[in-house]
Amino acid sequence: MWDDLEITLQKMPAEKRKQKPAADQLGFGVHFTDYMFFMKWSKEQGWHEARITAHEDFPIGPAAMVFHYGQAIFEGLKAYRGKDGQVFLFRPRDNFERLNAGAVRMCMPRVPVEKMVNVLKSLVYLERDWVPDAEGASLYIRPTMIAAEPALGVRPAGLYYFFIIMSPVGAYYPEGFNPTKIYVSDQYSRAVKGGVGDVKTAGNYAASLHMSQLAKKEGYTQVLWLDACEHRYVEEVGTSNIFFRISDRLVTPPLGGSILGGITRHAVITMARHWGVEVEERPIAIDEVIAANGDGTLQEVFGTGTAAVISPVGELFYKGVSHVVNGGRTGEVAARLYEELQAIQRGYCDDPFKWTVRVG
Ligand code: COI
Repeated sequence: MWDDLEITLQKMPAEKRKQKPAADQLGFGVHFTDYMFFMKWSKEQGWHEARITAHEDFPIGPAAMVFHYGQAIFEGLKAYRGKDGQVFLFRPRDNFERLNAGAVRMCMPRVPVEKMVNVLKSLVYLERDWVPDAEGASLYIRPTMIAAEPALGVRPAGLYYFFIIMSPVGAYYPEGFNPTKIYVSDQYSRAVKGGVGDVKTAGNYAASLHMSQLAKKEGYTQVLWLDACEHRYVEEVGTSNIFFRISDRLVTPPLGGSILGGITRHAVITMARHWGVEVEERPIAIDEVIAANGDGTLQEVFGTGTAAVISPVGELFYKGVSHVVNGGRTGEVAARLYEELQAIQRGYCDDPFKWTVRVG
């Protein structure tokens, strides 16, 4: 059925095209391109009504199951403007594969990966003028699937919508590439093992908001979550995975089911190992981090994510005490990763891992 999925292009009149924002007005996820992709899935027809169409509201009823039982999954990836003005996608197949893994866990239909990569390439090519070329800016891409069947029984829906929207963005954090301040939560949890912490599902983000607001009030940009059982082991930041450089080794929590398998996390592990840096994926207790900061062996901390890219951490607040990391400065490994990852993503250097996909 997927092989004969027909995709139409519904061209919009030129006068309906939006004005593109100036490079210093991008923000994150507040401006949207002219076009989007949309398709439906039903038990009878599988994926159908696939179209590239104007980015606009679509009808959905108040009984749609996504509003009641939260079947919603999404992805985040970026298109970058790079060498000679060319446009590149970074590991798009991995995003659709991860979406499909999440779809299985959430009892939702899988999307045809190769078809979606091709759709995305066409969509980004059509909207290539929206890919900003300012330093640190990119076109953020948000594939999303929601349950659309109007019904109130608790069961998997029989109708789904899948769409891809795109937004020209600057830095995710107001700090840009400068170190962020992070609040370590020993009170609330993000996810439990056996739950859906490793799925990019909307509810995980909803569950994080209350603690994030409390942290913001105290002047912290993000929350570092600990394991839900003991509040002892480090998990992730919610918008990014986390890395510690201790005695010249990188340490990051393992993917045990409650942490999102970040594509940037995987890229960073691969690049660091390629450089000869030792990387340990192992449980790391927050006490070990604080002790290493105290005895000077903690050299740097940084987050990794599509939106956040490489995000250095300058301060950890834990149990009422502020711990300044690396004098509040960006560490050398974070800086090198940021530079080299961007160079790969934008086609300015060799891509030994074959991660980039050129558009057009
Ligand atoms: C991403 O990094 O793409 C994310 O989805 C994180 C956040 C913006 C929700």
